[in-house]
Amino acid sequence: KQYDVILPAAGSGKRMGAGHNKLFLELREKPILIHTLEVFEQDSACKGIWLAVKPEEREYIQSLLVKYNIKKVKALPDGGAERQDSVYSCVKKVEDGEIVLVHDAARPFITIPVIHKLVEAAEEKGAVIAGVRTKDTMKKVENGVIVETVDRSNLWMIQTPQAFQFTILQEAENAAEKDQFLGTDEAMLVERLGQVVHIVESSYDNVKITTKEDLIFGEAILSQRIG
Ligand code: CTP
Ligand code: MG
Repeated sequence: KQYDVILPAAGSGKRMGAGHNKLFLELREKPILIHTLEVFEQDSACKGIWLAVKPEEREYIQSLLVKYNIKKVKALPDGGAERQDSVYSCVKKVEDGEIVLVHDAARPFITIPVIHKLVEAAEEKGAVIAGVRTKDTMKKVENGVIVETVDRSNLWMIQTPQAFQFTILQEAENAAEKDQFLGTDEAMLVERLGQVVHIVESSYDNVKITTKEDLIFGEAILSQRIG
């Protein structure tokens, strides 16, 4: 089953503190952004990539696409102030999408089998997101004091990809824009329309490179996968 993917890549990487977009940092001498793009480039089910970028980084990113022979990028729309704005700018560009995934460019360790599980589930169910079960005991804290120990068996840590039948995503994104609603992921925009969102169990490997420690974790994952 074919799909398109939206990759928001227009962040600043403040928590990484590299002084520039963290996606240009390298793992095994290759930019994080390219690691992510290569997964989709190599997946024959992926038809097209819609990459949201900062206008001032567009030219540099285009040069990387040439250097690393990434051919599936259909457009590089301007990102916005929030991740949601960056995703929306791509949603407006996608042409007759059927199944569309949204995936953080900062999650380079996503694998094709997980992508395909999501695509198949989205085709059947409409809206489905990747996640993993929480490992630690979870407590709700207010003013430094535990107010509740939450039942961990129902708690999941949510990742991307998030996969949708495109009309569902489009409707949710347009409604959020109209209502000026800011969510923390795409599923939240779909949930608020009353649409059921399903989960697919993903992998703990699928980390979002956010802080310095994640780079160490990233190098370790690559060592384990490719030696
Ligand atoms: N992103 C985006 N547009 C924004 C903010 C984020 O396209 N205005 C993208 C990032 O480039 C990243 C993904 O959304 O691929 C997940 O965001 P996050 O991990 O928070 O990255 P940053 O926003 O760059 O990092 P930070 O929050 O630490 O500044
Ligand atoms: Mg951010």
